[in-house]
Amino acid sequence: MSTVVLVGAQWGDEGKGKITDFLAWQAEMVVRYQGGNNAGHTVVANGQTYKLHLIPSGILYADKQCLIGNGVVIDPGVLLQELDTLTEQGVNTSNLRISPRAHVIFPYHQSIDIAEEESKGNLRIGTTCRGIGPAYTDKASRVGMRMIELVDQDELAENLRHTIEAKNKVLSRLYGVEEFFEYNTMLEQYTGYAERLKKYVADVSVLVNNAIDRGAKVLFEGAQGTLLDLDHGTYPYVTSSHPIAAAACLGAGLGPTRINTVVGVAKAYITRVGEGPFPTELHNKLGELIREQGFEFGTTTGRPRRCGWYDAVIARYAARVNGLTYLAITKLDVLSGLETLKICTGYRYKGEIINDFPASLKLLAQCEPVYHEFPGWQEDISAVTDYNDLPQAAKDYLKYLEELSGVPVAIVSVGAERDQTLVLKKIF
Ligand code: IMP
Repeated sequence: MSTVVLVGAQWGDEGKGKITDFLAWQAEMVVRYQGGNNAGHTVVANGQTYKLHLIPSGILYADKQCLIGNGVVIDPGVLLQELDTLTEQGVNTSNLRISPRAHVIFPYHQSIDIAEEESKGNLRIGTTCRGIGPAYTDKASRVGMRMIELVDQDELAENLRHTIEAKNKVLSRLYGVEEFFEYNTMLEQYTGYAERLKKYVADVSVLVNNAIDRGAKVLFEGAQGTLLDLDHGTYPYVTSSHPIAAAACLGAGLGPTRINTVVGVAKAYITRVGEGPFPTELHNKLGELIREQGFEFGTTTGRPRRCGWYDAVIARYAARVNGLTYLAITKLDVLSGLETLKICTGYRYKGEIINDFPASLKLLAQCEPVYHEFPGWQEDISAVTDYNDLPQAAKDYLKYLEELSGVPVAIVSVGAERDQTLVLKKIF
């Protein structure tokens, strides 16, 4: 049995796309299990840049089966656009399969997302406005529509009739938004989507479990990150799904006994988009420099990301709630040229040292990071292909990250290209 779950160990945007792409090369099957097109993966391969939002990164290899599990929420227009773009780029997309149990995003979800954010004023979450939260809300309220209903013309027609009426009321009466969705227009649009997508619908749980039974290597590709998890993240500044490793079971239809390895991806520093407390945030020129050097702008929304020093309190927390086997450290090259580097080892709160990530955001906002300082390295490391050839300062930095979280580093990324990847430990 060889199953690997790959998760973000921070606030998302850790460079999971690149690591997934790297591991997908060894896997037979790649599975997305939560989130939706709030995610954005940029993969650079053979000089081409691919932007993926919903489709598992394994699609870039011709022979991998790529699955979208029941835990994902799907905007069919976005999915089709992504399929079309990949086809234009010469990628074979016939190996994609979508769970009939995955829920569908409709335009009213997006309108409610936007209206809800606007109504919150200063308390807004800073969502991607893709309708993710409202789609998961409908799922939990048992009024959502799944892929299996989408591809059944009668069910779609029947479901949409009363849903549109209800959502128009919510928008106008609750939020004062006079945006009326018209039944026939939406039915026609979504019937068109269903026609094109129905050939991809298949029971993902069966496919995954069969693959594991025959000994295939299966990679579960997490989106977002641990601190955006609905239960374990910085609530309410979180997404509405579960980016942690346990969700791979729930969101793809397999039991926890079938998972072997969990890899947490963390940047060599840390970033965050959207609102909420961020103890190691750099509100200065250095933060701007890291943003520029690391191209820290959202793949999905283009928003500038907030940047800060690596936070080992968060790393330990991610190790615990995900049960991390290994860490993959990305963007180490971005730190090249800095005279001094800092790693946060704990938080100081009212004179006491806190080592465990707190639940209270009020407390978190008052935490002062305790830093360990390191001399930086001046060499450009983007062409290094062997860990042993890294400058000693970079190796010391990585060793300390390992020590602080108790999780061995298995992969180090020093650039966006596939070959800019140092492998310290075999994962599959
Ligand atoms: P939502 O997922 O659009 O509802 O957004 C909720 C929060 O999660 C916001 O702070 C978003 O910025 C953040 N978020 C959602 N998806 C991602 C992602 O893929 N990377 C980083 N942040 C994300």
